[in-house]
Amino acid sequence: MISANRYLTSWEGFWSTLAGTPGEVFWDADPAHAAQQDLPLFQDHSDPQLPLIDLGCGNGTQTRFLADHFARVMGTEIAPAAVEIARTKNAAPNITYRVLDVLRPDDAQALHEEIGDANVYMRAVLHQLSPADHTTAIQSIERLLGTKGTLYFIELSSAAEPYFAQLIKQYGPPPGLARVFQHAITPGMVNENDLEVLFPPDRFTLLDTGQSHIHTVHTLPTGKW
Ligand SMILES: C[S@@+](CC[C@H](N)C(=O)[O-])C[C@H]1O[C@@H](n2cnc3c(N)ncnc32)[C@H](O)[C@@H]1O
Repeated sequence: MISANRYLTSWEGFWSTLAGTPGEVFWDADPAHAAQQDLPLFQDHSDPQLPLIDLGCGNGTQTRFLADHFARVMGTEIAPAAVEIARTKNAAPNITYRVLDVLRPDDAQALHEEIGDANVYMRAVLHQLSPADHTTAIQSIERLLGTKGTLYFIELSSAAEPYFAQLIKQYGPPPGLARVFQHAITPGMVNENDLEVLFPPDRFTLLDTGQSHIHTVHTLPTGKW
């Protein structure tokens, strides 16, 4: 288990040293990918009356895109430096950003008391928490959802590890990943076979699962991203 402070130190370190150069945030992606891929998968399942939380929103790239499709959007983050970037670079009248550590269910409860049930969008957050912390993160998510909210999440699966290993063997380590490792951030994965354990059927109703893509800023020599 990694302590919550360790995540804060690593991620605040990462976000506070960004220089704004293209490609430095490895998982950043043109929101057009998300518009084509993610939106059709969850929009019809989500109550549009509820606020939408982009949990672990990073620099707000995806939050900004979500705000074009949902009336009220909130980006939440462990790292104040990321919130600052998001507020500066990805502001919109219907977006608010705030610090929230997903490993503090009581804070999630307090937010729920403030805004009520919410839909939650989560891209590439759970996989970078230690597996021992997944249950706590999901407790927080459950509190944010309440009874009416829908969670859409997209994470690195077990297929990601061999894929990255093959890419690194073929082309060398992708630029942008080195910066992640410098801050002792260790990407993991969410095993798709564990979904029922993580989201027990007596607490969650599984609406859909499937394979999708997390695009990055990195382009392969073949031209693929
Ligand atoms: C791989 S990035 C993805 C960012 C964003 N969702 C995106 O797709 O661009 C993971 C994000 O999770 C945030 N994060 C890490 N641990 C967290 C925690 N305990 N609570 C909330 N956010 C966390 C990091 O600061 C980082 O911005």
